[in-house]
Amino acid sequence: MTELVIKKSEIPKDSMVEFYFPDGKPWERKAVLIVNFKDNFYALDAFCTHNHLDLEDGFLTEDGKIVCPWHGSVFDVKSGKVVDGPAKENLKTYTVEVKGDEVIIHE
Ligand code: FES
Repeated sequence: MTELVIKKSEIPKDSMVEFYFPDGKPWERKAVLIVNFKDNFYALDAFCTHNHLDLEDGFLTEDGKIVCPWHGSVFDVKSGKVVDGPAKENLKTYTVEVKGDEVIIHE
């Protein structure tokens, strides 16, 4: 099982930052979107399920939704579920563990 370990300080409160799982060659690495929502951490697929475009430049709403910057799909940050289309498929979520000042994401 692949693990990605980052520092809490790398993800400011109420922001989303894209990272890569460390395994494999650089061009094979899988992107993951880490979200700090009210000092709780969540990890989801970094690409929207509508057109496979990057979510990192999207918006995080005050009620915990990720809004895709491309065509406006909305996903729940905790569950990855589609709240509004055009996307139809949920975002995959990853298990997150917080230990001290580290955030560990399990693929
Ligand atoms: S790529 Fe996200 S809504 Fe179209």
